[in-house]
Order: sequence, then structure tokens, then C-alpha cells
Amino acid sequence: MTEKCYTIASSFNSKSQFMELSIPSKLPTVGNSIFTEMSQLATEYSAVNLGQGFPDFSMDAALIDLVSKAMRDDCNQYAPMSGLPLLREKLAEKVNQIYNANIHPDSDITITPGGTYAIYTALTTILRPGDEVIVFEPAYDSYIPTIEVNGAIPVLISLSYPNYFIPWEEVHQKITSKTSMIIINTPHNPTGAVLTETDIMQLRKLVEATNIVILSDEVYEHLIYDGLAHLSMLRYPDLLARSFVCFSFGKTYHCTGWKLGYCISSPTLMKAFRKLHQFNAFSCDTPKQVALANYLPNQSAYLNLGSILQQKRDYFRTLMQATPFQCIPSHGSYFECYSYAQFSTETDTELAIRLTKEYGITTIPLSAFYKNGIDNKVLRFCFAKKESTLALAKCFLF
Ligand SMILES: Cc1ncc(COP(=O)(O)O)c(C=O)c1O
Repeated sequence: MTEKCYTIASSFNSKSQFMELSIPSKLPTVGNSIFTEMSQLATEYSAVNLGQGFPDFSMDAALIDLVSKAMRDDCNQYAPMSGLPLLREKLAEKVNQIYNANIHPDSDITITPGGTYAIYTALTTILRPGDEVIVFEPAYDSYIPTIEVNGAIPVLISLSYPNYFIPWEEVHQKITSKTSMIIINTPHNPTGAVLTETDIMQLRKLVEATNIVILSDEVYEHLIYDGLAHLSMLRYPDLLARSFVCFSFGKTYHCTGWKLGYCISSPTLMKAFRKLHQFNAFSCDTPKQVALANYLPNQSAYLNLGSILQQKRDYFRTLMQATPFQCIPSHGSYFECYSYAQFSTETDTELAIRLTKEYGITTIPLSAFYKNGIDNKVLRFCFAKKESTLALAKCFLF
């Protein structure tokens, strides 16, 4: 359901008369997200929910214990605006080591309430009405509404189907004097595509003589497979100087409900980012920051993540081989996409609904990740689940 304006019955005067207020919506075309709708349907039909992007396995109990300890140790008051100093120090040590970067904990890192908040703040820091932002589709659902709520214009470019590569020639053609930002997401939700060195070279060539700022959404940095390296913007000082790089503790430590993340940028951009952050969230959950700071030196927790999730991807892929779905290989993220063009002419939304109702499996139709609903007959499956959940899904399917 979409709404062009909200009508509110407002208390008008002391005699309790009411006046109808008519407030135009800032996001007139936005309704309930497909994630909400499909999850409701999954509950209604008791379906295995491979739609929503979160693990159904437990996070590390040691990290939970560290949160309890921090609370008992009286770490329960506001943390500093940019984040707990110890956490920022540990993060700087980590990224400097794994990305060969030179990040300073005081000036370059801000802890945020989740990756999406970091993305929202980064876009809002830069965008002014009329600015253009290059967005690759299919795209994570927060990008376009955040651009639009700032009065800026999303310039949509479809990743080439079925490999979901960035069509750099088209990007070149669509850059104008109004292009203010480019959004990169690697590993990519929903397709699992990852950036290559060639992509980095193309990106560098396109932005080097411009004022374009890069928003790099890297929340799946450790969920990368097949021996590939994650090409973070943090590895490239020239690109980092013009980037906001957004991360999520939720994705790395299987605790998406914690809604904690961070943004890394150059000192100049980070200063501007913090101007907004200090009047919005201001600061984040203190005991969890204390716990994460103490847990972060445990490198195996993030270095082994790729192989653990790759095993799940491969297990799920093997199960799917017994079905008529055709795999579009994922190299990262929680997701793998599958085409059904060879066995059905239904729209992807129709098939996703039918799979939930008749087969007890919930997926997300890829058209939901395109503003104009492009439908290549592809569904997204989340494989970040227990093997028993994945096996159950397969039993239901065929
Ligand atoms: C591409 C992408 N970016 C950002 C996020 C949000 O991360 P967080 O839950 O930390 O806000 C998600 C979560 O699904 C995502 O898929």
C-alpha cells in the first residue's frame, strides 16, 4: 500500500474539536516492503522462511557473556558520540591489518546503530536537492528512499543479467555535472556478486577528476567465498579519501538484532558525518560496544566466517540441484539467486507467493530490488540457516 499523504485527526482546541491535517508524504511511492509481506505470508502458511536475510543459528555465547559482564560492570551510561574509544582502536587495528590500511581510530571511525543507519547518515551528509546518485540495481532497499528523502535523484543502472556485473560504459554515460555520489555494494545483496580489480580500476578512472563521493556498503565483507578477496575501499587510499565505507556487526557476528555497525571514512568526510550523527542517535549501546571491543581480538570469529558460510551455500546448492531451479552462482553475502525461467511463465512475485502457499518455502522475488520492478524470473534464497532448515526447505520443494 502506498500513500501520497497522511490524514491525521488532530486535537484542535480545548473543546476537543478535531481538524483534519493533510500532510504530503515524503516518500509517496513507498509502501510495505516485500520482506514484511513475504514474512507475514511465511508465518501465515508456516513456511520455511528463506526470504529474510538473517541467520537462524545462534551467535557465540562468549560474546553474549561479555555483554552481561559489561552490564554488571556498570558500563550502562552513554558512550562517547563517535563510539567507545577501545572499540574504535580495536577496529582500526583489525582493518589496518586485513586491508593494509592506515585508519586512525579517533578521526576515521564512527560506531553507528547498524549499517543502514551508517548508509542513511552518509547519504544525508552529502546529498542536496537535485543531486544525482548512481545506484546499481537490484539494490538493497534503503538506498533509493534515502536518496529521495534528501530531495536527490537516483540514477538507476541495471547490473548486467545474469552475471550481475557493473556495466561501466553505461556508468560513464550516466555521469553528469550533477552526479554527487555512487553507491557500491560488495559482496552484493541480493545477487552475491563481488567487485573485482577491474571494477576498482574502472571506478577509479571514472571518479578521479570529479567531486563524486562513494558510498561503499561492505556489510558482508567477511561473507566471501571461492577464495576471493574482499576488495574493500579501505585498501585504496585514493578511493578511501572520497568514500564512506559502511559495516555491520550484526552480519559478522550473527546478531542482526543488535543493530550495531560502523562507518569508516577520511577525516574530512567523517567530521561532516558526525555533525549529523551527534543530533540523531548521538551514541550507541554501551555494553555491547564494550563486549565487541573485548571480543574483536578473536580473529578466527571473522576469518573463518567465509568458509562456514560457503559450506552452507554449497550444501544448499547441492540440494537445489535436485530441483528445476537454475543457479546463478553467488560469491558472497547470505544469498544465492535462482532462475526459474525454464519452467514457469509466472511473474517472480506470483511464484514466490505460490511457493509459500503450496510448497511451504518463502523466498524474495528479485523484482522487489528494482524500482521499476524488472522481472528476470529470479528468486533470492537466504542460505544463512541451519542445515536442518535448508534440508527441510528442500523436502518441501520437491
Ligand atoms: C546490503 C546491505 N546493507 C546494509 C544492511 C543493513 O545492515 P544492518 O542490519 O546493520 O543495518 C543489509 C541488511 O540486510 C544489507 O543487506
